[in-house]
Amino acid sequence: MAILTQVRQLEDRRQPTTTLEGWRRFIDTDPAEFELLPDDDWAALSDHERVDYNEARIAHHAELVVVTTSAIQEITNEGRLLTLMNQRENGARRGLIVSGGAATGKTTAIKQLGRFHELRTRRRLPGSDRIPVVYVTAPPKGSPRKLAMEFARFLGLPPVSSRANATDIADAVCQILIDARCDIVVVDELHNINMATTAGEDHSDHMKYFTEHLPATFIYAGIEVERSGLFTGVRGKQLAGRCALISTGPFPYHDEWRQLVAGMETTLRLHRHDPGSLVALAKYLHQRTGGMIGSLSHLIRASAIRAILSGTEAVTENLMDKVRIDHAAESSARRASSGR
Ligand SMILES: Nc1ncnc2c1ncn2[C@@H]1O[C@H](COP(=O)(O)OP(=O)(O)O)[C@@H](O)[C@H]1O
Ligand SMILES: [Mg+2]
Repeated sequence: MAILTQVRQLEDRRQPTTTLEGWRRFIDTDPAEFELLPDDDWAALSDHERVDYNEARIAHHAELVVVTTSAIQEITNEGRLLTLMNQRENGARRGLIVSGGAATGKTTAIKQLGRFHELRTRRRLPGSDRIPVVYVTAPPKGSPRKLAMEFARFLGLPPVSSRANATDIADAVCQILIDARCDIVVVDELHNINMATTAGEDHSDHMKYFTEHLPATFIYAGIEVERSGLFTGVRGKQLAGRCALISTGPFPYHDEWRQLVAGMETTLRLHRHDPGSLVALAKYLHQRTGGMIGSLSHLIRASAIRAILSGTEAVTENLMDKVRIDHAAESSARRASSGR
């Protein structure tokens, strides 16, 4: 019974966070908790119960448990500082650019930033119908109009007429967000925006329009975006001139890598796993993943699920050897081993 409730909770979180409803659900759900049964109770489960139990554990391992990395700390601290300062700023407000390679933890970090702010706002002002945070992703090959429509979609506005241009939509969106006291606007996947030279200027212009009409802190994220057309060019440079830049990337083989592995190891819910055995494999994990947090998280979670399905109940080097990661990590591991 309790197990089924857990499965249902995990299913609830699968809504996209790019709508107000999905975003609020993301804010409302606490990080996954899963209690392992004591060994005696585990051994006494009926076949039926065991299936449910394992299903819930698989769901637990499929789910992302966020480990607080130094990048998350830096991004959430800087975001908080800027938000506090901007709330009292009448002139140009400052923003934040989070830039780095694919799967380096950008989205995870900026969502945490948004989540912390929204939770703090709710604690301070319970029961208000504010929208403290907006989270949108730039649409592929997006025009300024398409980006404006992503905001409208987040808010659930009715479909706009085909005559409405980017500025009309932006005006409608800004009015709602001003009324709802929006403090933080997160624009993710900025590399999607089509940055052919002239369009780049249009986008910078449009973004600037949003920043000038909304008294909010803007957080931008994407793959190597600081050099993209949005932040170069005349208007782009004005936009970038008001932003701090935080870069994300692979982890060096260092203390923080071990802490990261340790953090992920504590999320394992397996019956025969030897605590600390994963940290002891930190070097192996670094070689396999090239220090990429996304590859590490995938390798560990996929291995844990295999350990449940096969009944070995432990994540070992032997098991992880059999788990595929992703093309980028695997080719970097091949380069590392052929260079030895
Ligand atoms: N702080 C973290 N703790 C645990 N796993 C993380 C963390 N940050 C990233 N990951 C893992 O890395 C994957 C890619 O992260 P994501 O934030 O989507 O990267 P990006 O936006 O840079 O492409 C996530 O799906 C998750 O598995
Ligand atoms: Mg991302």
